[in-house]
Amino acid sequence: MDLRPGPRGLLAAGDREWSPLFGGSPGIPPTAAMLFPSEAPLTSQAYDFLANLVYERSRIRLGPDRQTLVAGRLRQRLVALRIDDYADYCALLKSPQGADEVDALIDLISTNHTHFFRESSHFDLLTRQLLPRLAEKSIAGMRPLRFWCAACSSGEEVYSLAIVLAEFCRLRPAVQWHIEASDISQRMLERCQQAIYDADKVSVPQQEWLERYFLRGIGDRDGYFRVKNELRRQVTVRYVNLFQDVYPVPRGLDVIFCRNVMIYFDVPSRNTLIERLTDQLAPGGFLFVGHSESLIGLRHGLRTIAPSVYMRPE
Ligand SMILES: C[S@@+](CC[C@H](N)C(=O)[O-])C[C@H]1O[C@@H](n2cnc3c(N)ncnc32)[C@H](O)[C@@H]1O
Repeated sequence: MDLRPGPRGLLAAGDREWSPLFGGSPGIPPTAAMLFPSEAPLTSQAYDFLANLVYERSRIRLGPDRQTLVAGRLRQRLVALRIDDYADYCALLKSPQGADEVDALIDLISTNHTHFFRESSHFDLLTRQLLPRLAEKSIAGMRPLRFWCAACSSGEEVYSLAIVLAEFCRLRPAVQWHIEASDISQRMLERCQQAIYDADKVSVPQQEWLERYFLRGIGDRDGYFRVKNELRRQVTVRYVNLFQDVYPVPRGLDVIFCRNVMIYFDVPSRNTLIERLTDQLAPGGFLFVGHSESLIGLRHGLRTIAPSVYMRPE
């Protein structure tokens, strides 16, 4: 697996520093060193090179209006690398030693905003209409339900889905399920794998789900919740670039969540992506995109089930 291990401090102690909710107690100390920002100006020439490289590798389209944002995000990176100007940074990216740095660049450029139960109507639709049908198929086919969160950021989407599935299966223990969680950002994948979230940001539709699916941090971990093992072990976290040649994810999927990422891609890239995701779905499987990302204007052979939800015909 291409996923690098997360920071030791959070993972090494296992679950000993975690207790059931509503019982324990003080915060993870800040880990990032404070760095003085680089003063180097980002020239248009360097920016064009960076924007082309990011597009070539990730299809994330950085328009001319993003130059200030990119400079802001890269400033501390140059300081950390002890590089004085962007021409030297570009030279590093072009060199054979720069291969890992391209990943770091994309990591810094990508927008990772997400939260628990984002676009909650998708989870409602799943629970009320789609899961009952899929569960029947799963039982008849004697196979687990297979889900893929294809640009999952730090994992809030993944564990929202996991909670919905666990809740659905409380009354149907015969139904097995598994979630593939992937992203292009190693930094986000580490967070997804750790499944540790600021307690203030863990917002779920039913209060009892907090107790059922999260542990509360105690001691140094006070103020944080961790998703319980019983959900985490249903999830495989791995690096996937949506434009890499072959996906390391099984085909015949029942549901793909690919939400709030297409907005960063141009139309030809969206067409390629939808074609590949369709191919990855089982007949009768569902594709969820972000609420602001309909497939209107794209080439596809999917049926519209609800706004931003599509089905591969049987
Ligand atoms: C705004 S977040 C969306 C997170 C989540 N799906 C949601 O809707 O809340 C977009 C994510 O897409 C990822 N991403 C961008 N380009 C990608 C690519 N080419 N392959 C895989 N993931 C990508 C980013 O790293 C980021 O974590």
